[in-house]
Amino acid sequence: MNHEGVVYVTRHEDCSRLLGGKQFKRNPPDGVGPFSKAGQTLGSVEQTVSHWMLFMDQPRHDVVRRAFTMPFTPAAIAAVEPFILRRAHELLTKYPLRGEVELLKNFCYPLPVMVIAEILGVPAADMDLFYQWSAKLTAAMDSGTHEGMQTGAEVVKLMTDYFDGLLARAEELPPHSLIRMLHNDPMQLTAAELNSGLIFLLWSGHETTKNLIASGIQLLADHPAVFSELKQHPELIPAAIEEILRYDAPVQKLSRWTHEEVAFGDFIIPRGTMMTALVGAAHQDAAVFNDPELFNIHRADNRHIAFGVGLHRCMGSILARLEAQIAFQAFLPLVKELRPVRHHWRTLSAFRSLDELVVEIVPA
Ligand code: HEM
Repeated sequence: MNHEGVVYVTRHEDCSRLLGGKQFKRNPPDGVGPFSKAGQTLGSVEQTVSHWMLFMDQPRHDVVRRAFTMPFTPAAIAAVEPFILRRAHELLTKYPLRGEVELLKNFCYPLPVMVIAEILGVPAADMDLFYQWSAKLTAAMDSGTHEGMQTGAEVVKLMTDYFDGLLARAEELPPHSLIRMLHNDPMQLTAAELNSGLIFLLWSGHETTKNLIASGIQLLADHPAVFSELKQHPELIPAAIEEILRYDAPVQKLSRWTHEEVAFGDFIIPRGTMMTALVGAAHQDAAVFNDPELFNIHRADNRHIAFGVGLHRCMGSILARLEAQIAFQAFLPLVKELRPVRHHWRTLSAFRSLDELVVEIVPA
C-alpha cells in the first residue's frame, strides 16, 4: 500500500482478477467521481473523464460503449486498412530514411493520429495541436489520483470547445465519419457523453498506439538479431507485436475500487479502497512467462494483459494491432541496418511513452 492508501498488485493472476472481478469497479462506493470519494470536489478534468466509458460502471458503461463501437468492428477496420497502408508508405517516403532519423514525430505519432482523425472525421491538419493536447492530457491522467485530476483543466476546455465546434458543423464532415454519424443519431448518448467520448477516442486512439510502434522500433534497434529475423520472416510480425506489448506495455497501471471487503492471499482489503494493477510487473511474472526478462518473439502462449481484461477490455485492440503490423511491414523492407542513437521516455508512471526516438538507418 502507498501513502495515499492505494493497494498495488503485481502478480498476473491478481492483476487479472482485479480487472475482471465484479467486486471491483471504476467508481468508489458512495463516491462522486472515478477518483473522488464523497465530500471531495470534482475538477473539470474529472468531470470530463467521468463521461468516458473507461471510467463508467454498468449499466451506463454498456450503453456508451455500444454507441461508440461501430468503427472498431472487424469489418469497419478492414475498410480503413487501405487508408492505413497509404499513410504509412507516404510518411516513410516523405524524407530520406538514411543516417540519423527521428521517427517519433515523423512516423510513430502521425500514423495513428491520422487514422483516428479519419475515423472520427477530425481534420488531420490539426495534428500538431493534438500532439500538445495529448501530452498534457496524458500527464494529467498519469497519476490516476484525485489530486492529479485537478491539473489539465485548460487542455480539457480547449478540447471540449474543439469538438463542440466540429459537432456544430457535422454536416460538412465526410458521411462515414463517426462525428457526423453520432451527431445524426446519438444512440442514447447525452451531449456531454458525446463530446467527452470523442475527446477520449481521439486521445486513446493514438497515444498508446504511438507508443507501441515507437517502443517496437526501439526494441528492434536494440536487438539486431530479432530485426534481421523479422526482415527475413515478416510473417513473424504479429507475434513480435504481442511480445512488444508484453515487454513494453504502453499502459502500465490500471485501477479499480473495491465494492466489498476482499482477500488477496493473507491481505484483507477493506471496501472503498483503490487498488492498482501494475501491468508491467504482471508481464514479468515467471509463473506465466518463461524467462520473462527476455525479449522473445517466439514466446508460446503469450498471455499479456496489455489491452486489459473484462468489461473495459480495449475497444481498439484490433485497430492498434493492424496499425502496428502495417507500420512494421512498411518500415522493415526499407531498412538494411538499424541502430539505436537516442531516445527519451516521458516521466510518467501509467504510460510508457517516448517523446523522442532517433535511430541510425542504413537504407535497403
Ligand atoms: C497499443 C495500443 C493500445 C493499448 C495498449 C490500449 C490499452 C488499453 C487498456 C489497457 C484498456 C483498458 C483500461 C482499463 O481496464 O482500465 C483500454 C481501453 C480502451 N481502449 Fe485501448 N489501447 C490501445 C489502443 C486503442 C485504440 C487504437 C483505440 C481506438 C480508439 C482504443 C480505445 C479504447 C477504448 C474505447 C477503451 C475503453 C473500453 C471500455 O472502457 O469499455 N485503444 N485500452
